Amino acid sequence: MTGKGRGTWASRLGFVLAAAGSAVGLGNIWRFPYVTGKSGGGLFVAVYIVFTVLIGLPTMIAEVLLGRTTQSSPVKAFHKLRGRSPWLGVGWLGVAAGFMILSFYSVVAGWTIHYVYLAVTNAFEVAGSADNIGALFDALVANPWANVGYHLLFMSITVSVVLGGVQSGIERWSKILMPALFLMLLGLVFYSIFLPGFGKAASFVFAPHMEAFTFGSVLAALGQAFFSLSLGMGAMLTYGSYLPKETGIPKSALWVATLDTTIALLSSLVVFPITFSFGMEPAAGPGLIFKSIPIAFSQMPGGYVLCIIFFVLVVFAAITSSISLQEVVTSNFIDLFGWRRWKVCLTTGAIIFVFGVPSALSGVPSSPFGPLLKALTDRTFFDWMDYLTANWMLPLGGLLIAVFTGFVIDRSLRREEFKRGTTWGGLYGFWLVLLWVLVPTAIFVVLLQSTGVLGLLGIGG
Ligand code: PHE
Repeated sequence: MTGKGRGTWASRLGFVLAAAGSAVGLGNIWRFPYVTGKSGGGLFVAVYIVFTVLIGLPTMIAEVLLGRTTQSSPVKAFHKLRGRSPWLGVGWLGVAAGFMILSFYSVVAGWTIHYVYLAVTNAFEVAGSADNIGALFDALVANPWANVGYHLLFMSITVSVVLGGVQSGIERWSKILMPALFLMLLGLVFYSIFLPGFGKAASFVFAPHMEAFTFGSVLAALGQAFFSLSLGMGAMLTYGSYLPKETGIPKSALWVATLDTTIALLSSLVVFPITFSFGMEPAAGPGLIFKSIPIAFSQMPGGYVLCIIFFVLVVFAAITSSISLQEVVTSNFIDLFGWRRWKVCLTTGAIIFVFGVPSALSGVPSSPFGPLLKALTDRTFFDWMDYLTANWMLPLGGLLIAVFTGFVIDRSLRREEFKRGTTWGGLYGFWLVLLWVLVPTAIFVVLLQSTGVLGLLGIGG
């Protein structure tokens, strides 16, 4: 942070990498393959890509634009543009979503830290068979102390980065870590191409399979698009507030969405060939990458070192995302009440940690948040957090942000901000039409359908 209050990114590249740092995370490497596996593959992926381009991208532009115009975090941004109005609720919805997402995200990130430890101690090679490597994950999620401990460790790391003010830290790290992760994934895809299961995997990911596709998969695709792009809760709005005035927004957003989608697809092209080659279940759920990736490395020459590097990079990808979640919560209270950064950060970080404990215990057999809750409600506490935030809160937030940008804010302000610093100003009308019609309608229909209201009325299935 510079002396003059809010900082800015040093360059467009800085913003793109930091925003991509927020976008690219466990959502791409862990969540995308596992949700794709559960949702039946190809058709889900196609719908996901369409949603990313036609709904995610315009919404991202809207969010970044709101942030840059107001130079504020979400609640304050709505306050600046609309005063005391129900729109403040959209900002608060985002803060709540940030809170909830970080509470379970940190648990998964904790697992990745444990996997660095397992890789360093050569546990995968010692385990030997694919089954034994899989059992390591099952043992981890069933262990309350390990889960809570790693969750605490990861929250402490996140809080300590955000404590220092994020700009220089995030920007500098993202510039090194994002390209490293990308190269690493490319290398792994190259390895996967030669696995016997590659053909089956490619067909699973890219060929439309109607059988496994349900309307629930459409909701899951929408949720995954929002989760992966860090949309609908003000993360992009907050990062946009640090964007220099002379940088064009549409092209930056396109870059972020392209990087994010490419990395998600590359991850699935690494995970599924392994899954099929070793006779594993694509619908294995949250443990999917924690089982498949170490199996691949344990078979590879040089796998020991590569496996360490891989999980270290995943931890870093998780950190560049978790700090954006913590930053939304933190900057919100700083902007609104003028509280000190360190006070806000430590307090909210501690609350998020406590709130995440039930998620950390969701795999523990004797815990009420795990199997018991699942028997009653079909989901563990962890699953509920994931499902409610990604599938409902983020799309709803995105819908309201699109409506606000499309219909509520000052027109000339909007046009000026969109066209500033870009040669892509000609796309303004097209973007606006998407915001007016397609984005709200599509999100509304998917959410409404998923509430079952349409079914009750006898419309749709
Ligand atoms: N996009 C991040 C990921 O893919 C998660 C995230 C969601 C971050 C929402 C910020 C806001 O891992």
